[in-house]
Amino acid sequence: MKTFAMHRILPAALLAISSVAFSLPAASQAVDEEAAKALFKRNDCGKCHHPTRDKKGPSLQKVAKELNKKPAEAMNRIIKNATTGPKVKLLDDGKEEEHKIIDTKDEKQIRNLGQWILKH
Ligand code: HEC
Repeated sequence: MKTFAMHRILPAALLAISSVAFSLPAASQAVDEEAAKALFKRNDCGKCHHPTRDKKGPSLQKVAKELNKKPAEAMNRIIKNATTGPKVKLLDDGKEEEHKIIDTKDEKQIRNLGQWILKH
């Protein structure tokens, strides 16, 4: 019977389609590490964010771990954080200040930096 075959084929077809959809973004978004590091350095982000150790801000590993729990929101949170200067609490002395605003409005560059951060 035709319907019987559909039951078997449809799920497999859907799975194939969704796996392609999920693999595409990753493939088309290779991170330019050098550009990310340069932007990070130029903005003194490293003053507060060390790759593995907490400083005034959480380590990049910690930031990535936290943000990667919600992949759908991660990039937007990074962009918002780096462009709107929300109040943050410094980890060392508990003082509150506005988060550093990045010196570029080029969303492509900020996204590249965001991807680099999320890879930690
Ligand atoms: C003066 C210290 C300081 C500097 C400089 C700084 N940050 Fe932060 N950053 C913080 C603190 C503190 C937090 C923690 C916010 C919290 O968890 O409440 C934070 C959080 C973050 C987060 C996590 C945001 C989230 O929603 O979880 C990202 C991403 C980030 N910073 C990126 C950057 C980038 C990129 C730069 C450079 C443009 C930078 N930071 C410069 C102190 C700093």
